[in-house]
Amino acid sequence: MIRGPFGMADQPVEPHIFIILGATGDLTRRKLLPALYRLRDQGVLEKRNTLIVGAALPEIGEEGFRLWAFEGLRKAGWPSDKALRAWCEECLYYHALPTGNEQDYEALAAYVRRLERMHGLPENRVFYLALPPAAVPDAIEGLDHAVLLKSHGWVRVVVEKPFGHDFHSARALNTLLHRYLEEPQIYRIDHYLGKETVQNLLAFRFANPIFESLWNRNTVENVQITVAEDIGVEHRGAYYQQAGALRDMVQNHLTQLMTVVAMEVPVSFEAGAIQAERLKVLHSVSPIAREDVVFGQYTAWQIAGHTIKGYREEAGVPGDSLTETYVALKVDINNWRWKGVPFYLRTGKRLPRKLTQVAVTFREAPTQVFRSLEPGSIARNKLVITLQPSEGFSLCFSVKSPGRPFRLADHALHFDYEKAFGQLPEAYETLLRDIMIGDQTLFVSAEFTETAWRLYDPLLQGEKTIHFYTAGTWGPSEADELVARYGHQWQLGW
Ligand code: BG6
Repeated sequence: MIRGPFGMADQPVEPHIFIILGATGDLTRRKLLPALYRLRDQGVLEKRNTLIVGAALPEIGEEGFRLWAFEGLRKAGWPSDKALRAWCEECLYYHALPTGNEQDYEALAAYVRRLERMHGLPENRVFYLALPPAAVPDAIEGLDHAVLLKSHGWVRVVVEKPFGHDFHSARALNTLLHRYLEEPQIYRIDHYLGKETVQNLLAFRFANPIFESLWNRNTVENVQITVAEDIGVEHRGAYYQQAGALRDMVQNHLTQLMTVVAMEVPVSFEAGAIQAERLKVLHSVSPIAREDVVFGQYTAWQIAGHTIKGYREEAGVPGDSLTETYVALKVDINNWRWKGVPFYLRTGKRLPRKLTQVAVTFREAPTQVFRSLEPGSIARNKLVITLQPSEGFSLCFSVKSPGRPFRLADHALHFDYEKAFGQLPEAYETLLRDIMIGDQTLFVSAEFTETAWRLYDPLLQGEKTIHFYTAGTWGPSEADELVARYGHQWQLGW
């Protein structure tokens, strides 16, 4: 059964074993363990309802894994107190898969069943595949071989992004998953959907008729989605070289954001209804024209005797790489609501600062009353939804400056989620809890991944023209020219 999140906030987590394959990797330490521990802090996870089993190649043993996890959580800011020690000792288990062959999976199955018996747990299992994409098919086959995907309870499998590297590989992965699992058992993660603001966007749009009634081509002039990062590719050069920004960010995170902004009102807040509306948006997108896409790559930047490396100098990246670290593009959604309203998407690494925002610019006031003012002096109304670094909304409007001569000034009403509600949950915390209670609203369906790949695949074929930009700038000037061609400019902040 697919269920929705709204109105089921108190749904308890049923006793289960949460098995992480690839448990000694970066994702587990940076995201999964902190999210699990926060859920424990909130009383959602307890020893009696959730045991966490790490499984990975290294033979580090249970003690080694617990120590590694303890250190990771301590470094992430938790005090090394009794509660943290007790959680690591009582809730974390480890089983090595040294060769990744069938015998390893049989041994893992025996180990999981033993734990279930010892702790009186039903056969409810989550398998979180925190694995590089190439290792996912073997892991699925291994789990099936050891009959871990069949049980007297429920089984859920979580697949991280990237989900395939093009349409055909995504379809092949879906076919493999569907051989052993039903779609409601498969949780394809896109952590952007777990971000609080993305969920709030639904509430904001559909609970506030003043905005929903303006949310269409009659009043909206353009929509911009910016996901800017100040970091480079860090230690992931080899992965990134194969992926590039289009695969790494646009096909998933930015596309998800776009569909949440553009979707129609669902018939209910059930997962299936919301997923169906998001998918309809994708089906309405026209093929993206090559001339509406700008690819960029960062080059080195020297400042005060300090050098920030260019992409081609990063470890694991060839010196003549043509992989893009920046993409800007225009998407046309050909439906009743949005026809004629460009959606501009852009993302890049090594930009001046981290900023994730959706900027909705409304049309100009259709009046001559201010014609005596300088042309362009009346700013458009804008709604700027910020996801990072802080989460909130700004609604921008024009007011009269006091006194004479008559002049207009731009101001904004701001809403800051943290100021209003305190610390917000992390995306992984929300998503892990949803997996545990069986709620697929914030996950990606098989059809969505394939449809998104179909949209971007043509842009991945053939030679790309790469425009270089210096690290620390807002990307290549060709991206400014792209929006300028349609009479627009990029929004930054409000
Ligand atoms: C990941 C990408 O999915 O998202 C990374 O692989 C990127 O390249 C990251 O840095 C950005 O996530 P966030 O939540 O920090 O915006």
